[in-house]
Amino acid sequence: MNFSLKRLAAYCLDHSSDIDEVLKELERETNLKTLAPQMISGPLQGQLFSLISKMVKPAHVLEIGTFTGYSTICLASGLKEGGTITTIESNVELKHISDKFFVKAGITDQVKQVWGDARKIVPELDGPFDLVLIDAGKKDYSYYYDLIIDKVNPGGLIMVDNVLWSGKVTASKKDNDTTVMDAFNKKIKEDERVDKVMLPIRDGITLIIKK
Ligand SMILES: C[S@@+](CC[C@H](N)C(=O)[O-])C[C@H]1O[C@@H](n2cnc3c(N)ncnc32)[C@H](O)[C@@H]1O
Repeated sequence: MNFSLKRLAAYCLDHSSDIDEVLKELERETNLKTLAPQMISGPLQGQLFSLISKMVKPAHVLEIGTFTGYSTICLASGLKEGGTITTIESNVELKHISDKFFVKAGITDQVKQVWGDARKIVPELDGPFDLVLIDAGKKDYSYYYDLIIDKVNPGGLIMVDNVLWSGKVTASKKDNDTTVMDAFNKKIKEDERVDKVMLPIRDGITLIIKK
């Protein structure tokens, strides 16, 4: 049987919760006003992040790679009362979009937006975090992971996006970027401090729980 992945994703979305109007508007605006709108998590992955956040009920979330704030809004949806989401982004040209949509989503009190290079910012963060999304600078994933693992509470969840790298991780001959992603995936597989599962959703997401 040959099912189209696109049709399967559409079917999954049709049989998931309805997408919030603010998120629909944010997706439209991201498509209209950014140069690489495909970086947005989008509805299916966003629903997954929302649901996971509601399961974890985190007090503190860390997100590396805000972009226009789509995943930030989804991750904020499960925060405990008084909880916060620290989200890091280097491209200040996106500020007018993310700021506007954090207001529309009613999460300005929860969001701590940090502008700058996450490679310099993450080492300065104290933590502890209950939920982390790594979604920026694919070559830096290993560096972020090493910094973050000690700032995550036991039982805390780290999610890593784009781990399938458009499917190229399965190729026998890999380009440089793919080799880096593949090495990161192998490193997580071998890390005995964590339980993990890699999901073939969108560009691949690995869920990692610290033991
Ligand atoms: C894939 S997008 C994030 C998508 C977002 N999480 C969402 O779901 O809509 C990656 C973002 O990381 C940012 N980025 C890349 N390298 C960075 C770095 N070193 N520090 C901070 N942000 C970075 C990019 O500017 C981009 O906006």
